[in-house]
Amino acid sequence: MKAVRYHQYGGSDVLVYEEAERPTPSEGQVLVEVAGTTFNPVDIGIRTGALREVFAVECPHIPGIDVAGTIAELGDGVDGWRVGDAVVAFLPMNADGAAADYVVAPADTLATAPRTVELADAAALPVGGLTAWQALFDLASLRAGQTTLINGAGGAVGGYAVQLAHQAAARVTATASHRHAARLRRDGADRIIGYLDHGNDPLTAEGAPFDVVVNLVATTPEETAALADLVADGGALVSTTTPPPEDPGRGIRTARVFVLSRADQLAELVTRVDRGELRIDVAARRPLSDLPAVHDEAATGRLAGKTVLTPA
Ligand SMILES: NC(=O)c1ccc[n+]([C@@H]2O[C@H](COP(=O)([O-])OP(=O)(O)OC[C@H]3O[C@@H](n4cnc5c(N)ncnc54)[C@H](OP(=O)(O)O)[C@@H]3O)[C@@H](O)[C@H]2O)c1
Repeated sequence: MKAVRYHQYGGSDVLVYEEAERPTPSEGQVLVEVAGTTFNPVDIGIRTGALREVFAVECPHIPGIDVAGTIAELGDGVDGWRVGDAVVAFLPMNADGAAADYVVAPADTLATAPRTVELADAAALPVGGLTAWQALFDLASLRAGQTTLINGAGGAVGGYAVQLAHQAAARVTATASHRHAARLRRDGADRIIGYLDHGNDPLTAEGAPFDVVVNLVATTPEETAALADLVADGGALVSTTTPPPEDPGRGIRTARVFVLSRADQLAELVTRVDRGELRIDVAARRPLSDLPAVHDEAATGRLAGKTVLTPA
């Protein structure tokens, strides 16, 4: 089969599109014929080795932690799935990923793919959707009637966070650049403000204080700590990037997000997609062989929006 792999940690030039052995599913796994995978920012940290303490991968390694595709083979002991089923999954971070014609996936990470979008585009759901869900509901316990600030709403996670918070009947303020404003408004943002100004003065934001602040921007530790000033007494600050301060006072709870592959939550997200309640935003669909260029564009700030990669 064809795959994009790297044989050592390094820059985007270590990624090569080449022939690789088709994997075989072990017990509890399925073989998925890949329709689409995506680029996620964490792929860069894994590829460069910066995250090797947390996600050590064996080289040669195939990246791609999101998958949408069709089950091609069942490993021993897999119940409830059949060859030909269309599925999505958030794959284990330290195993070979879906930047290939085929990938093995643990059966307990699978959800049935949405029927209402192209199968390849469904790959843009698992990591982004699960991160937003877990940040808002599992970690920040967002409830109806509360206010939330989504810092960095223009990206993939932010798009889902705005939609899910709006559906939960929260009032949503989003920071994003102007080019995302119309989409975010349509997806349920009540207020859109520009990037927060982390100058010397105390941090301010229209609408503060918020019951829940979700930080999706690669802020410095000082900037992340300053976001606690925007949280209401007894509220919550969660961050997918830099860890927030452990105890900022005023009864504020803080947490760093480490997204989990939860098939039950993914199934719920799929249901919402099929009901027309949750939109999967795909900025570009490109051939898998473009993955080295996609990594390069992301590393240099030229990649705009969620990119889906499709095998030939
Ligand atoms: N810890 C975890 O488990 C976990 C899971 C998933 C993601 N993450 C992390 O969460 C972050 C977001 O992920 P993603 O997939 O949504 O990334 P993404 O699609 O690349 O989006 C990042 C967004 O941040 C916006 N942005 C940059 N600087 C900003 C600022 N100062 N104020 C407001 N917005 C700003 C960018 O806006 P423009 O488009 O306007 O440039 C971009 O839309 C990444 O750092 C990712 O690594 C962590």
